[in-house]
Amino acid sequence: VADDGYRLWLKYDLVADAGQRAQYRSAAQFIASNGSDAVLKTATTELQRGLQGLLGQPVPLLAKAESNKRGILLLIDASANVSGSSASRAGFRISTQGRNILVTGRSGAGILYGVFALLRQMQTGQAIASLNISSSPRIQYRLLNHWDNPNGTVERGYAGSSIWKWNELPQRLDPRYTDYARANASIGLNGVAINNVNASARYLTPEYIEKVKALAGVMRPYGIRVYLSVFWAAPKVIGGLKTADPLDAQVKQWWAAKADEIYQQIPDFGGFLVKANSEGEPGPQDYGRNHAEGANMLATALGQHDGIVMWRAFVYKAGSADRFKQAYEEFKPLDGQFSPKVLVQVKNGPIDFQAREPFHPLFGAMPQTPLVLEVQLTQEYLGMATHWVYLAPLFKECLDSDTQTKGPGSTVARVVDGSLDQHRISGIAGVANIGTDRNWTGHPMGQANWYAFGRLAWDYTLTSKAIATEWTKMTLTREPQAVATIVDVMDKSRDIYVRYTTPLGLHHIMGQNIHYGPEPWLAEAGRPDWTAVYYHKADAEGLGFNRTATGSNALALYSPGVQQAWGDPKTCPLNYLLWFHHVGWQQPLRTGRTLWNELATRYYTGADSVTWMQQRWASVQPAVDAALHADVTARLEIQRREALWWRDACVLYFQTYSKQPIPVPFAPPT
Ligand code: GCU
Repeated sequence: VADDGYRLWLKYDLVADAGQRAQYRSAAQFIASNGSDAVLKTATTELQRGLQGLLGQPVPLLAKAESNKRGILLLIDASANVSGSSASRAGFRISTQGRNILVTGRSGAGILYGVFALLRQMQTGQAIASLNISSSPRIQYRLLNHWDNPNGTVERGYAGSSIWKWNELPQRLDPRYTDYARANASIGLNGVAINNVNASARYLTPEYIEKVKALAGVMRPYGIRVYLSVFWAAPKVIGGLKTADPLDAQVKQWWAAKADEIYQQIPDFGGFLVKANSEGEPGPQDYGRNHAEGANMLATALGQHDGIVMWRAFVYKAGSADRFKQAYEEFKPLDGQFSPKVLVQVKNGPIDFQAREPFHPLFGAMPQTPLVLEVQLTQEYLGMATHWVYLAPLFKECLDSDTQTKGPGSTVARVVDGSLDQHRISGIAGVANIGTDRNWTGHPMGQANWYAFGRLAWDYTLTSKAIATEWTKMTLTREPQAVATIVDVMDKSRDIYVRYTTPLGLHHIMGQNIHYGPEPWLAEAGRPDWTAVYYHKADAEGLGFNRTATGSNALALYSPGVQQAWGDPKTCPLNYLLWFHHVGWQQPLRTGRTLWNELATRYYTGADSVTWMQQRWASVQPAVDAALHADVTARLEIQRREALWWRDACVLYFQTYSKQPIPVPFAPPT
């Protein structure tokens, strides 16, 4: 049977190695669990289901352990000894106890995560003879953000339509909702904001709350809470009020009543996600109020309910001198003014999910406010569903960046997990890349980005390669040489994409609106704050955005150590060079090449590397499913053509400024 990708990394095909299968079989002769917790029940069912597939035989569920057999015990234990943050109820321990494997956790969710970890051991071919694994999530709120609209479209979605079928809810629950919840739980995610941040007010109507309630009912047994993106002006649009001013008594009352109404239907509702005063969305500034006044009003509306407000810092307007600085300028002064239920959600970089960005300067700059890191799994600027780009290296690059705001080691990860500033709550959000395509993500390799996000949200110390290896073994093949080859391609894919699209720190030079393909020549058209020249600043002298003190001075938003590292074009890492410096075409770089030659070299070698990806992929053909192999092969062919398109468009366009020949190894013969 051809693999259509629907089962993601939860395939549970029969363990092929007979010896290993026998070992697993002898260790898993029964399952026993305590209590009636709904999530614990899910854990039991998932374990049975997984083992049935992997071992090729049913594993009975017993009321208690049987002394003459080996089995797996699932036990909720309030005092379970799980590693990591002592506050986490979601941690688990898997250990060998006498003849049995014991999975303990402080909650049903902990056991569920433990069960998926145990299954993963078998899916990736690890021994289970003497286990001692303990793990806790480093970040508390681990969410997917869906940019799904009520009409079924998905903003920046490239994998079909929205999986939520609003016209069928609440009566019909598509089985896909459950499969979606399983996939999320299996990688440790515990929250879903189900609708677009450019939110429709509709979701707050009684009609939709009933539908959302039905979805929440599917998610609950998987330990997942549902959140809503809210439209700021909802009190006007659906509430009949004349204003949406957060300090207006009627507005406050409206939101409080709305929160009560939601919690009556959905007692474990997660809270609100808000995009306000950004890209034309309404917000508190329309009434002369600031973001904190808006966010705090919603936090107050949540009252005693166990919910949070995730207030987005992605703000910019036409006409700002350097968009890089706007979020910082609006939010930094508000540090200390947000109520304890508010987290400010910050994109990984200051512009907008570019293929490579320096970390957002707000990280480390708001010590009194818990900051949610928002990354994008959907490949808006990263080749949509045709380019193979594994994003864990991008996520890691941000998480590992050292803000230096409290000395060396003040990484973005430690800002986000709350440990740097001792926050009680912490969060991370990934903009989902899934849709109704049979394989969920359009590009089969896009599944790895969903997977990697969950794994890093749980434990950002995992390496990109380790995650890629797990995923490949669970999803594509267990053949060691093929695994190594695929992981190698994944590991390099993001750097390759950067090279043929935006090398050396170029950014925002893609097609306007669609955000696909090259369009650096927008210089001459469009809105002044959007045009590419605004970002790449090509002229007769050189290339790059001067963000030092002689330019926009955005560099000054970072701590002194970071300014020092990036402030001198001679020592600035080449990956960030044109983010911060306008560099002469003939300026020699550390590579020994001039800027122009280095730029051209990267475009050419980047595009050539796609051919390398094709060759590597061709070599694994015998080890992976034929249909899937053909699908990726075809997408790689598109990627190759488009890498050439990017290369030629950008090199030829920038050449009109540099007036330099294409360097020798790449220039066509004259
Ligand atoms: C990007 C994206 C928009 C989205 C916005 C956001 O600008 O192109 O579609 O609405 O980010 O994150 O709010």
